[in-house]
Amino acid sequence: MPPSDAAFVSPRGYERSNGPRDRDHAVSTTAVEVRAPYDPQVNPLSFRPATISDIPAVVALVTSAYRGEASKVGWTTEANLIDGQRIDADMLRPEIERPDSLVLLGMRDDELVACTHVSSARPGTANVGLFAVRPGLQGGGLGKQVLAEAERVARQEWAVSELELTVIDIRDELVAFYERRGFVRTGEHKHLSYGDERFGTPRVPDLRMEVMRKALV
Ligand SMILES: CC(C)(COP(=O)(O)OP(=O)(O)OC[C@H]1O[C@@H](n2cnc3c(N)ncnc32)[C@H](O)[C@@H]1OP(=O)(O)O)[C@@H](O)C(=O)NCCC(=O)NCCS
Repeated sequence: MPPSDAAFVSPRGYERSNGPRDRDHAVSTTAVEVRAPYDPQVNPLSFRPATISDIPAVVALVTSAYRGEASKVGWTTEANLIDGQRIDADMLRPEIERPDSLVLLGMRDDELVACTHVSSARPGTANVGLFAVRPGLQGGGLGKQVLAEAERVARQEWAVSELELTVIDIRDELVAFYERRGFVRTGEHKHLSYGDERFGTPRVPDLRMEVMRKALV
């Protein structure tokens, strides 16, 4: 069953505290504030749904993670494959407003550091996309927390039995990451949108997205 409005319009499920955050571990000296290394096991992200006022920050986060020089700080990026934008405010707004869709923000203190988008693909299946962690914080376990939360929402709040995502099939390191999270390659491909600059400008021809699925048991 597709999620009902009540499942995600109410942010109640996201208001919980997720335990101590890294400011609790900050140590001040007279000259500088020295922060303890960020440990996501000790300092998990808190999650909340995006609102319209988050749009500029989400667009900036996603752009920095997917595209251009900034994204190359991270361990995986589309910068060598696609130029231009990944999303803009006009594309994001309906995803925040429509009922069968949740733009999920990962917050560290009051700072946006990660996001993803969970949406209804069809009855029984939710799609996960727009998956991004701030490039300088990648590789520290935040992405896994975000994916786990998306999975929890899909299973517990939307009661779907399957998650689906698409990934550019030549991004071997990312495909392997999803496989380690239980997603399976399907061999179903979708061609990238060439000529529609809202989705960016491919740098190479014939890029394909492959559908990966995970059964939620
Ligand atoms: C994909 C993304 C959200 C993951 O977030 P993250 O915080 O880096 O993820 P985590 O730290 O939880 O996990 C990193 C994983 O990558 C692996 N990894 C780290 N560096 C790597 C490298 N250089 N090559 C291959 N794998 C690497 C880690 O081993 C870990 O996997 P494991 O726990 O199974 O061993 C983040 O990299 C990102 O924003 N990428 C750019 C946007 C993007 O491509 N989104 C997905 C589009 S489909």
